[in-house]
Amino acid sequence: MESKPGLLHVEDLTVAYHTGAGWLEAVRDFTLTIAPGQTYGLVGESGSGKSTIALTIMRYLRNGRSRQGAVWFNGRNLLTLPPHDMAHIWGKEISFVPQDPLSALNPSLRIGEQIAEVLRQHLHLDKKSAAARAIALLDMVRIPDPPRVAASYPHQLSGGMQQRVMIAMALSTEPPLLILDEPTTNLDVTTQAAVLDLLRELIAARQTAVLYVTHNLGVVAQVCDRVAVLYAGELVEDAPTHALYRQPLHPYTQGLLDSVPQLGQHKAQIQLAAIPGQIPALGQRPTGCVFAPRCPLAVEICHAERPFLDTAAAENGRFVRCHRWPEIAAGEGGVKKEGRRERKREEGRGKRRREEGGERRDCCRWRI
Ligand SMILES: Nc1ncnc2c1ncn2[C@@H]1O[C@H](COP(=O)(O)OP(=O)(O)OP(=O)(O)O)[C@@H](O)[C@H]1O
Ligand code: SF4
Ligand SMILES: [Mg+2]
Repeated sequence: MESKPGLLHVEDLTVAYHTGAGWLEAVRDFTLTIAPGQTYGLVGESGSGKSTIALTIMRYLRNGRSRQGAVWFNGRNLLTLPPHDMAHIWGKEISFVPQDPLSALNPSLRIGEQIAEVLRQHLHLDKKSAAARAIALLDMVRIPDPPRVAASYPHQLSGGMQQRVMIAMALSTEPPLLILDEPTTNLDVTTQAAVLDLLRELIAARQTAVLYVTHNLGVVAQVCDRVAVLYAGELVEDAPTHALYRQPLHPYTQGLLDSVPQLGQHKAQIQLAAIPGQIPALGQRPTGCVFAPRCPLAVEICHAERPFLDTAAAENGRFVRCHRWPEIAAGEGGVKKEGRRERKREEGRGKRRREEGGERRDCCRWRI
């Protein structure tokens, strides 16, 4: 086994999908290290490649494959492990809560049986103890009337309940690493807050490491130690949560923070009022900086040369992929004001559009 940093070390990962137009890269040169007990947020707009990274780590890609890089877990490269060895890792070493819980649940098995099966397989519990433990786990994720839910089939549950069942199943084996792909998007605001509290408690109690995939920066601020910001399949900023929220160094992160996240809102409804334009489609990545067509601070070099992931602060590890980050950090030459002024202007336009459309926005600012 090779010695690699952290519990999980994703190294220089590039992933492509096979599409009608050939192989197209969805993730490029992505690197991330999660220490034991650490909670890492992976954020970015819809289509930025968050689920692709989660699925690659789990080896669940269907028409996609990793073209380059490695996924080190406890010193072993998961991308080269034979399926037999991966079977020992799934559920026991790494648990995954997918974005679409219904697709992950077996439609022909009752919920209680599905949870009990995991417990019997990984913890070797007998049938009776596994059934009792399944009900206790449903209770733990605050599902009302656990015995009734245990006797139900997946299609008889709401999306929010299915998500909580998946969380219960993921936590049941107390794995060292949890990967949660938008685990609370189908939940109403109250249940979402309750599930987040629960996750925080469990993570603290069991020292579980977590990769928390979300579009919601408010949620990240509540549960994550560090944040990786993804744009068009590229890591653009990676920093401790406090540092990133206090002083974002990448214009995309600044734009994300300026667009107010709202608990309970579906991501499809979220408009990044502060960032005009759209994420590029697969295969249409611009040369130079991927964010340049939308960036209020773009200059000539941005359109010509791709910035590399630079170390912005060695202490605590802070990385940013932007030609102009030193100016942004120093607030030099009006760079910060210039970007903010442009974003404010766009925000004002967005606000007017919303007011004209009679749209109401319930704001939920992050707590850090
Ligand atoms: N099976 C697939 N085949 C081809 N392209 C895919 C496939 N899955 C995802 N993609 C494309 O890869 C890119 C990244 O998708 P991905 O689902 O990883 O994004 P995401 O950040 O998880 O988005 P969301 O927030 O909507 O879940 C998108 O352009 C998407 O259209
Ligand atoms: S490199 Fe240029 S275009 Fe890209 S984020 Fe930085 S300033 Fe904007
Ligand atoms: Mg996704």
